[in-house]
Amino acid sequence: MAAAGLRFDGRVVLVTGAGGGLGRAYALAFAERGASVVVNDLGGDFKGYGKSSSAADKVVNEIRAKGGKAVPNYDSVEDGEKLVKTALEAFGRIDIVINNAGILRDRSFVRISDEDWDIIHRIHLRGSFLVTRAAWNHMKNQKFGRIIMTSSAAGIYGNFGQANYSAAKLGLLGLSNTIAVEGRKYNIHCNTIAPTAGSRLTQTVMPQDLVDAFKPEYVAPLVVWLCHESCAENGSLFEVGAGWIGKLRWERSLGAIVRGKNQPMTPEAVRDKWEKVCDFENASKPRTIQESISVLSDALSQIESQGNVSMNSTSSGSVASSPVDTASIVGRELATNVYKYTHLEPILYALGVGMSTKDPDHLKFLFEGSEEFCCLPSFGVIPAQSSMFDGVPSLPGLNIDLAKMLHGEQYLELYKPLPTSGELTSVSTVADILDKGSGAVLLIDVNTYCGKDLVCYNQFSLFFVGAGGFGGKRTSERAKLTANPPKRLPDAVISDVTTTDQAALYRLSGDWNPLHLDPSFAALGGFKKPILHGLCTFGFAARNVLKQFANNDVNRFKAIKVRFAKPVFPGQTLQTEMWKEGNRIHFQTKVKETGEVAIAGAYVDLVPALDKPTAREPLKAVGLQSDLVFEEIGRRVKELGNELVKKVNAVFQWDITKDGKTAMQWTIDLKNGSGAVYQGPARNSPDTTFTLSDEDFMDVVQQKTNPQKAFFSGKLKVKGNIMLSQKLEMILKDYAKL
Ligand code: NAI
Repeated sequence: MAAAGLRFDGRVVLVTGAGGGLGRAYALAFAERGASVVVNDLGGDFKGYGKSSSAADKVVNEIRAKGGKAVPNYDSVEDGEKLVKTALEAFGRIDIVINNAGILRDRSFVRISDEDWDIIHRIHLRGSFLVTRAAWNHMKNQKFGRIIMTSSAAGIYGNFGQANYSAAKLGLLGLSNTIAVEGRKYNIHCNTIAPTAGSRLTQTVMPQDLVDAFKPEYVAPLVVWLCHESCAENGSLFEVGAGWIGKLRWERSLGAIVRGKNQPMTPEAVRDKWEKVCDFENASKPRTIQESISVLSDALSQIESQGNVSMNSTSSGSVASSPVDTASIVGRELATNVYKYTHLEPILYALGVGMSTKDPDHLKFLFEGSEEFCCLPSFGVIPAQSSMFDGVPSLPGLNIDLAKMLHGEQYLELYKPLPTSGELTSVSTVADILDKGSGAVLLIDVNTYCGKDLVCYNQFSLFFVGAGGFGGKRTSERAKLTANPPKRLPDAVISDVTTTDQAALYRLSGDWNPLHLDPSFAALGGFKKPILHGLCTFGFAARNVLKQFANNDVNRFKAIKVRFAKPVFPGQTLQTEMWKEGNRIHFQTKVKETGEVAIAGAYVDLVPALDKPTAREPLKAVGLQSDLVFEEIGRRVKELGNELVKKVNAVFQWDITKDGKTAMQWTIDLKNGSGAVYQGPARNSPDTTFTLSDEDFMDVVQQKTNPQKAFFSGKLKVKGNIMLSQKLEMILKDYAKL
């Protein structure tokens, strides 16, 4: 009876109410995959009257006949300890508990007797509690446990005649949610299902053909998956039936503040704001109690900062109660900041992002006496951040509250390797300000110079919770965008265990926010403990990419973009998953313990390697700068190809020369299909062919010169339809800023 794939050999599963219906299907499915199963069933009727051993025995025999391992248990779930004892006595452990036993006592609400109310709660809710509690310490000690609670659509949505049942069933969801929180650190996961299946319970309410069609076998695989050791899902709710599965979550409207500072809160104000309270536009989807409560402390401080705002104000409670004059803010220079450092800072930074002398490769980042001593490229955020912090709070017209700031995204581009000591000057400007409804996003550009040379460029994307709703635009052309990884398994995965003191160490590089160290400050921000700096995780990921794909050569690190999706706690294990696509390395960083993605949509762009020509890409060996631009155009064409094909309708071939010889050919096809960019001559005859040197090409792209000028000065040669060259700017400008 062996089934391949997800196996449960050595695992012990207890299924309550497994003598029929869904429970039987679970018991059979687990046994088929190698688990030892305790088949529990009291054996009464569907209303909970009577008892018998035959229901459990029948299923045990069925499993054994197929070569599986099972023992019966005939106790009621109200004797939780006894069920778990059977598992321990027969198999020596307990790994998985499926709380499934159930009965019905349907009555219209007012006719529910005390007994009907109590017995439903005793079997469903209290029974699940007792069985799970009996198993808990065993799971905790072995650092593994999987628990399923069985809820019902009747509980989620309500159903006529099932008030007792609905209440108990949704009670199970609350129980599951808290168990999931408490169990997480012991690798005990608890999830809830709301199944629909033909059984003796549903026979009373469903037509027979549906009872036959909704087989319990269409529910069991979800339960099996959720209980596998490789499944990271925890604290979730699923509806399942007929071979379909969907996940549910809470959605919460942005809501409205209905009182003013020093003013009473009135029912009339509630009525007047009712539409806003119930408006789900830009709704949030809180997942934790911290996320849920943080809105209240936001509301308090918003009210405090209001002044005596009249309750008739149209303010939605956001910080910016009148339209913000974004035009006066965008482009504004914020601060100029000088960062002086010795070799100490880059070394401290390298230690902060997990470098260690254990790895001989790391010595050049940790030892100033090393011949190759150099600075990690991601150190480029450090001189920039102080300039950014200096300037942001002083923006007029915006009620910026740093306590409500989230670091949303980060982009860093290097123009040369960072010096290992010296003086860097960073100039920050507001690139744009966006209104995301639930908050405002401030894009801050920071250029960092060594003398007159531009060394690096950062774009900080800062999210200010509660500062939205000022009527601004939602997106910006100036924003550096994230990119999703390809849909295949990663090409490389590197794990790093962060230490308990990771944040304490990282902050010494200049981000002193107490959120990362002080538990009470972290609690104010809604976190159960201090969180690691997003830029620390960023540093871990950046150095992994550098090592894996650029042999730790800092000269090859061009740019990095990340989105901070979830916090990381010091001590957790970071898992950087990487995908190579040409010179772009896509990556994401997961927290191994929870499976949650902490850094998403991220990538590093590398400068092509100069010294390793490959047979497939012979011309790349010359290391043309234009390659990067074409690759970038290629990515944009993938996104916007349809639009560009309509506007341009032409095929351009490029012959790029180096030292007078053609070094590379590229084709930009904006005529066929949804466009394409590829190496080599045009597959169909090109409308226009351009010949120019790699250097001149870069000048055109960086707008040091324009195509017309290049043509007239003889740097650019054009064959074919010369008029089409006017459309070049459309392709090159913006799409190829590197
Ligand atoms: P079922 O009646 O076939 O199975 C329930 C089993 O639990 C029975 O074998 C019964 O003898 C056993 N049981 C009852 N009281 C017990 C107790 N005190 N101790 C031990 N065993 C006991 O019903 P079905 O449909 O398989 O239901 C399984 C679970 O799924 C129940 O919790 C039910 O409320 C839930 N559910 C089922 C839905 C469906 O469409 N079938 C819909 C929503 C929820």
